[in-house]
Amino acid sequence: MATLRATLGLPATSAGIAEAAALLRAGALVAFGTETVYGLGADATNAEAVAGIFAAKQRPRFNPLICHYPDPAAPFADVAATPLAERLAGMFWPGPLTLILPRREPGRVALLTGAGLPSLAVRVPAHPVARALLALVGRPVAAPSANRSGRISPTRAEDVLAELDGRIAAVLDSGPCAVGVESTVLDLTGPTPVLLRPGGVAAEALRAALGGRLDRAGPIAAPEAVRAPGQLASHYAPSLPVRLEATSVAADEALLAFGPPLPGAGAVFALSVAADLTEAAARLFAGLRALDASGMARIAVMPVPRHGLGLAINDRLARAAADRPG
Ligand code: TXA
Ligand code: MG
Repeated sequence: MATLRATLGLPATSAGIAEAAALLRAGALVAFGTETVYGLGADATNAEAVAGIFAAKQRPRFNPLICHYPDPAAPFADVAATPLAERLAGMFWPGPLTLILPRREPGRVALLTGAGLPSLAVRVPAHPVARALLALVGRPVAAPSANRSGRISPTRAEDVLAELDGRIAAVLDSGPCAVGVESTVLDLTGPTPVLLRPGGVAAEALRAALGGRLDRAGPIAAPEAVRAPGQLASHYAPSLPVRLEATSVAADEALLAFGPPLPGAGAVFALSVAADLTEAAARLFAGLRALDASGMARIAVMPVPRHGLGLAINDRLARAAADRPG
C-alpha cells in the first residue's frame, strides 16, 4: 500500500540496520542492497506484508519471490535439504545463486510468497550489510528487485527512490551493488538441475559443480517468456472446478467471497469481508487450498475489482479456472 510519508533513507550503520530490521519485523516494506541488486524486502511469513510488495511494484500478477537468509544453513528450515542442494550451498553461499527447492509443509513462509507453488526460491546474499539485516530480522525476507514492474533492477539507493519513493517505508543504503545483475536461478525440484535465469554465478561454474548435468530453460535472451509457461503449468491448481464471477451460490458449492459473503454456500472462505484488496491478496492461496479440501462440488468465486492488486488476484483466479488438471 502506498504510504503518505516520504521513504526514509537509512545509513548502513548498526543503528540504521537495527531500524530497518525493526520495520521489517513490524510488517513494513524496506529496500536493501545485496551484492546483485537492491531488493524490496518484506517479512516472508507475513502474507499482508508480502501483498504490499506486489502493490508497491504494481505487478499485474503474483510472481513467486525469493526468500533471503543470513547464513547457508538457515534456508533449510523452510525447504527440503538434498545432498546436492547442501553441496551447492557449501560452494556458492553466501553469493548470487538462488536455489528452487520443495518447500517444507506446513511451513512458516506465507503461501503468497511462493505464489502458491509447492517449491520455494531461497538465497543467501553475500553483502555483509544484507546479512547483518537478515540476521537481526530472524525470519526469511521475501525480496524481488526493488523496481516497478517492467523496469530495470536498481543498483543504488537513489535508483530505488526514483522507482518507489513514498510507496515503501525505508531504503537501507549500502552503496552501489558490486555484481549489478540478479542472482542465477537454479531449479533443483526435478531429476536434472535446470537453469531458470542466468545471473551472478556463471553457468560454466555451475555446470562444472554439477558434473555437466545442467538443463537450460530457454534462450538467455528471453528467459521471462520461456519460463512463464512452465511456471503456469506448475502453479497450484485446485482439483475442484472453479466458477468465476458468481452472483449467487448453491448449497453444494464452496464460496470464495470478496466483501460480505453471498448466502447459501456449503462452505465459505472470506478473502476480505471489508473488500480490502491487500487483505484479499494475502489470503488468496490459503483460501483456494481450504475450499479445495471442503468436499463440495465446485468453487464459486465472487467478483473481485480489476484495479490495483485486483489485477493480480483476477489473473490467478482465471488460471485456477482454466488450469484444471483433466
Ligand atoms: O539477485 C536477485 O535474485 C535479486 C535480489 C534482490 O536478491 N532478486 C530478484 O528477485 O531478482 P525477482 O523477484 O526479481 O526475481 C526472482 C526470479 C523470478 O524470475 C521468479 O519467477 C523466480 O525467481 N522464482 C522465484 N521463485 C520461484 C519458484 N518457486 N519456481 C520458479 N521460479 C521462481
Ligand atoms: Mg526483477
